[in-house]
Amino acid sequence: MTFNLTPVLTSNWGGDKSWTIESYRRTGGYRVLGDALAMAPDALIQLVKDSGLRGRGGAGFPTGMKWGFIPQGDGKPHYLVVNADESEPGTCKDIPLMMASPHTLLEGVLISAYAIRANRAFIYVRGEVVHVVRRLLNAVEEAKAAGFIGKNVLGSGFDIDVVVHIGAGAYICGEETALLESLEGFRGQPRLRPPFPAIEGLYACPTVINNVETIASVPAIVRGGADWFKKMGTEKSPGFKIFSLSGHVARPGQYEAPLGITLRELLDATGGMREGHELKFWTPGGSSTPLFTAEHLDVPLDFEGPLAHGSMLGTTALQLFDETTCVVRAVLRWSEFYAHESCGKCTPCREGVFWYVQILDRLERGEGDEQDLETLLDLSENILGRAFCALGDGATSPVTSSIQYFRDEYQAHFDGRGCPFDPVASTVFAGAIA
Ligand SMILES: Cc1cc2nc3c(=O)[nH]c(=O)nc-3n(C[C@H](O)[C@H](O)[C@H](O)COP(=O)(O)O)c2cc1C
Ligand code: SF4
Repeated sequence: MTFNLTPVLTSNWGGDKSWTIESYRRTGGYRVLGDALAMAPDALIQLVKDSGLRGRGGAGFPTGMKWGFIPQGDGKPHYLVVNADESEPGTCKDIPLMMASPHTLLEGVLISAYAIRANRAFIYVRGEVVHVVRRLLNAVEEAKAAGFIGKNVLGSGFDIDVVVHIGAGAYICGEETALLESLEGFRGQPRLRPPFPAIEGLYACPTVINNVETIASVPAIVRGGADWFKKMGTEKSPGFKIFSLSGHVARPGQYEAPLGITLRELLDATGGMREGHELKFWTPGGSSTPLFTAEHLDVPLDFEGPLAHGSMLGTTALQLFDETTCVVRAVLRWSEFYAHESCGKCTPCREGVFWYVQILDRLERGEGDEQDLETLLDLSENILGRAFCALGDGATSPVTSSIQYFRDEYQAHFDGRGCPFDPVASTVFAGAIA
């Protein structure tokens, strides 16, 4: 089969000490920084608009358009904030990127900050990944020593400071306004919008918040141009993307490919499921995106494909589960995560995800009944679209989609009064979910 992987962001990951500035520069790193600083900031924003780059943090918002919302000539400081909180179950692309090539991100930060006329940029990284924090701090020092960070970068007159901020490890702090609260030293809870961060963000000043992979894609766009970028991917979702394969696959890892590739193509190219097993269900973009099944192997993985089939591209965190996995147990685990991470600000999410766990736990132990499924669906209706932020919406995804596709399996739990996947119970209830 023809299968074009597009190693752009990942092209230097295998290089000798790829995380050092020497190694990055050997592969052409920082070469376009001078070109970018010679352009007018608005021309850079236009270039990113023309490229069609869409945010890689989950929602797919057009990046150039976001940058264009920043008021110009307002006399206020502007800020660039990189969202490196990466905490969603299954999502694991930004951390490898920052470990393997922190300078790809830094070069993107410098160009993007210049474009939006910011002189200070923050990288908000989740606190548990101390190894990533060290690598970023080291990269910032290297870039300072090389004259890429500081006053009058490359004689352009542009001043930039980059701050690596270490979060305390809360999933909600990846939500952009909760992140800003946390960065300002407050409790990480989402803000009411409007005003949007582009108008009143960090310290009530215009702020652009972008995902690590989004910002890291910018130097390549400056180097290759908008038309080159658009040659990859699909019309509405151009470019390359890191797809993270995890779970019951033969070769888990990060695979960079054009948007619009299908899971079938990715599996064909990477050795498929683990030997002797079959795909049962999967997430196209992390635990907050509704589950897919083997029926969806040919859905194009761009921002439109999963949406047309009732799910979302999310963070392209492809978590694959084979026939040995109990879907009820998996959904219980995800719900426990959401219940733990709910910030408690709004009632539908705070109460709803708590009750999810109580009910799913009962169902998984075989102590539930048909009415519990109706209660789960009713709870979901009261969370989706009524919660204050997208954490609540995301929590409903595994619950509703698992009932949609695997109602029989829920039924087998209460008919058999136990989990059919439990090693002891399965001998008793063998065939219950055949
Ligand atoms: C609960 C929650 C967690 C999130 N976590 C992250 C995250 O870790 N990284 C990220 O880039 N975006 C995360 N987002 C999305 C951000 O709010 C925001 O949309 C994103 O940073 C924008 O960047 P982009 O336009 O480059 O995608 C999260 C959203 C929610 C609701
Ligand atoms: S949806 Fe959940 S995480 Fe978001 S504000 Fe409400 S309680 Fe907090």
